[in-house]
Order: sequence, then structure tokens, then C-alpha cells
Amino acid sequence: SQNEINRLKNTVLESILPSDKDDLILAKGLKYQPIIKWGDEISDADTFGFNNDFTCFIPLDKNNPKDGLLWVNHEYIHSLYVSGFDENAYENPLDHKTLQQVDVEMYNVGGSIVRIKEENGVWQVVKNDSHNRRISAKTPIKLNWDTPIKGKTTAIGTLANCSGGITPWNTFLTCEENYDGFFGETIYDENNQSTFKPSRYCGWEKFYNHPPEHYGWVVEVNPKNGEAQKHIALGRFSHECCTLYELEDKRIVAYSGDDHNNEHLYKFIASKPSSLKEGTLYVADTVQGKWLALDWENQPKLKAKFKDQTEVLIRARESSKILGATPLNRPEDIEIDPITGHVLVSLTNNYDKKDFHGSILKVEESNGKFDALTFKASTYKAGGEENGFSCPDNLAFDFAGNLWMTSDMSGSAMNKEGKPYLPFKNNSLFVIPRFGKDAGKVIRVASAPTDAELTGPWFAPDGKTLFLSVQHPGEQTTDITKPTSTWPFDGDNIPKPAVVAITGDLIKKMNNLNLIEG
Ligand code: FEO
Ligand code: CA
Ligand code: CA
Ligand code: CA
Repeated sequence: SQNEINRLKNTVLESILPSDKDDLILAKGLKYQPIIKWGDEISDADTFGFNNDFTCFIPLDKNNPKDGLLWVNHEYIHSLYVSGFDENAYENPLDHKTLQQVDVEMYNVGGSIVRIKEENGVWQVVKNDSHNRRISAKTPIKLNWDTPIKGKTTAIGTLANCSGGITPWNTFLTCEENYDGFFGETIYDENNQSTFKPSRYCGWEKFYNHPPEHYGWVVEVNPKNGEAQKHIALGRFSHECCTLYELEDKRIVAYSGDDHNNEHLYKFIASKPSSLKEGTLYVADTVQGKWLALDWENQPKLKAKFKDQTEVLIRARESSKILGATPLNRPEDIEIDPITGHVLVSLTNNYDKKDFHGSILKVEESNGKFDALTFKASTYKAGGEENGFSCPDNLAFDFAGNLWMTSDMSGSAMNKEGKPYLPFKNNSLFVIPRFGKDAGKVIRVASAPTDAELTGPWFAPDGKTLFLSVQHPGEQTTDITKPTSTWPFDGDNIPKPAVVAITGDLIKKMNNLNLIEG
């Protein structure tokens, strides 16, 4: 109604100040409620995993935005909380972890499917709904490729699930990012001889002989039955995310960043409609504005080093360097601007190159065609004190085309004297309005609890709820009796990653800006 529009128009978009308080602080016009947190039962068989990152919501009935399936990534574990393993108690900690501890840790990564419903303004998990299930580092997952990978057509589990995406046919995409921290990695010397490099972080390979080559992929999950498959054609690297565009002929263009210092930006162009199984993977030369094909058959330089296309895809990082791809400052999340069609890529930082605050890269495909093989790259917005943010990570456009962005300053450097992140205080959620007097400004609208990162922003289809993950509160804790955070303040003084629903006038206002001011 006109009254409602007038009321929303008068909602002031007020920035909050940087904060180092152990709380989820929101701007005026926003409120939150926890939906689900680590350890909550989702069914008689399953509990919600740890370190929730990407969230994605698909309504069961497209006409009812208040009842649907929430997918949540569980990226990694903090062993002190999850398995009780204290890595600070030993000189060589990974020699002391038990099988039982590893099993608990493996269960707590991957993802969750949970049915959630909003009634009277309250979002709740529908416990024991038949869709509710866990996918973990224990779940068998098909390798969607015509030749076996390390002799197998099925991998065991998914892990390092950071950000993700959604397909036009309503399945979830979950991306395996820092996979080498779980089962190690195969590395190659200058003579192309391989050796195994143990994981420094989890040490699971001491108990399970899972090939590193089974991780580092984009994984598609069917929300209806939990069936999953790893898409080999999209290449193997530290996939942050997978952001899709559907061409007129229904073929998919998929963008994905490799979140590692000096790694690359990729684009996959499918060869068949509504499928991610076959196509060509390209890597970006952002200097010349060229997409370079990681195509064994047609690239003599790749033919000279690798035995076939499967090897090129498994060793995508090396293949990219051979072709002259541009090293980037840790490409994280990617979103396509719904109004301009520009592809925005968070480059979070590159500490070694003294890029402490990162930037957002803008990719303009030639003639606005997503299957173009040339583009123009420029900086959309630089991090730093002038723009009020540092280390951009997740991006999300709302339904009016405003850009929402989270920051990911690392816990070991955040709020530390002598580090460049001190003025920014805790990690935050920002919005960059597209219209009105604040257009283009970076406005801080949420501040995370101590050591936490806000991740996985996702709007419900009616634009009235923003789902948001609060990941790794209290991550710097080394003594469980003295946690650095106690969020979400649920009584036992143990911090817990959780997904919250953010609602309020500000969410409505931002999603209606076109209508109000246009
Ligand atoms: Fe898991 Fe690149 O953030
Ligand atoms: Ca991330
Ligand atoms: Ca996103
Ligand atoms: Ca990050």
C-alpha cells in the first residue's frame, strides 16, 4: 500500500560503527533470529554440522516463499569444539589424533539439507522432515566423468565446502575449497614426479586412504533426495563458489574463483543444455582480457606436459600457469549484476603482495555475451579505510540490485595491534545501495561476534528475509574453559556457528528501492 511505501521510504539507512563486541550487532531496521546452530538435531539420525558457510533456500512450492529447503555448507572444523582434540597440547599434534576423533570431525563437514518454515514471523526447522539430511565427508558421491579418477568412479565425502550456487533446475552447488587441509595433496616437481604432501590441518589421511584427487571439485546436490555428484569438467582447485548464467539455448556458463594467493579466475561453458557434465573450462588472462581454454586437444603446451584432458582438469592450477593465466589476489565469491550483467569478483587480499584490503574486480564480457572469449577487467571498488571495508568475501545482489558484501579478515590478524585490520574491528556485512543518495557508498549493516565471519548471505524469494551464516565465532580459542566468544549465548558458554534469519524494514526497503525511488 502507499502507507507501507511511505513508511519504508522514511526508514533511514544508518551505518553501524565498527565494533569489537562479542555479539551480532545489526543496523537500525534489522533484527535477527537464530534458525539452526551446530549440533542441533535435524532428524533422529542427523545433527547440523560445524562452521556453516554458503546458504541457499529453495521453496518447495514456488508460490510459497515461506516454506522450503535450506542448504547449508559446513566448511571445516575446530577440533577443540568438535572432537575435543587439543592441537596445542602436542609438539606434533596430528600424530596424536584418534580414529574416533577423526570420525566425528568427518561427520561435521559437508552440508545440511533442512526444511524450514516461517509462521507468524518466526522461521523454524521442520524437524524430522523427510528431506532433512546430512552430507558429510563420509557420504559416497559419484564422480561425474567418463573415466575413473584414481581408479574410482565414486569419491568418499565432500569437505572444505565454502561457498556455492544454485542451478536453473533448482539443485544446490557446493564448492570444495581448501581441500588439501583434510587428506593432503599430490604435488609435482619440475620433472613431473609426484609426491604426497600431508595435510597440515586435519590429518585424516592417517586413518583413511582417500586420494586427494577426489576433492577440490564443484559438487551438485539434489535437494529432493540428497543425491550428489562431483563435476570434473569444471576443474579442480580451491573452488570458492560457482555462479551460473543460463544462455538462451539453456547451456550454462559457470564462474568460479580459486581462493589462494596468486591463483586464478575460471569460467566453464557447457556444451549441452541444462548440464554441467561436458564443456570447456577457461581461465582468465585479466591483463589482455582473454579467456584461455584448458583444452588438452587444442593446446600443444598442455599436450606436452599432461597425458590427457582428465589430467589437465585435475591439475588445473598448473595448466593455467602454463597458458599464462593472470595470478590474482585470492578470488572469492562471484555475482552477476542483474542489471548491468557485469561479473563482480571479490579479490579478498594478498598479504604477501601487501594487498591487505583486497578489492572487487569487475569483468565486462565482450558485447555483454557470457560465452564471449574476451572481456574487460577493472576495479569496481577497492578495500581500505577510505571505503570502510577490508577483505571482501561473499557477495549477494538483492531484488532491487543493491549489492551486499561480507568481509573476511582472518582471525589471527583481526583486532590486533600492529596489523592493518585494526580500524575495521570485527568482520561485518555491508550493503552498497544502487539508487538514492547513498548510491555506491559502502554501508556497514551488521557486525559479527568475536573471531567470526558472516557468510552465505541469501535472500528468500519474497525479499523479506536475508539468511546469513555466522561462521567460526570464538575461533581463536585455545582453552575451552576460556572461549573468546560465547555467541549465540545459549547457556553453555560454548560458541556455535549458526544460521540466522535477518528480517525487518531495512530488508524490505532495500528490496523495494526500485519501486520506491524509481
Ligand atoms: Fe572459505 Fe575463500 O573462503
Ligand atoms: Ca569465503
Ligand atoms: Ca554469493
Ligand atoms: Ca574467505
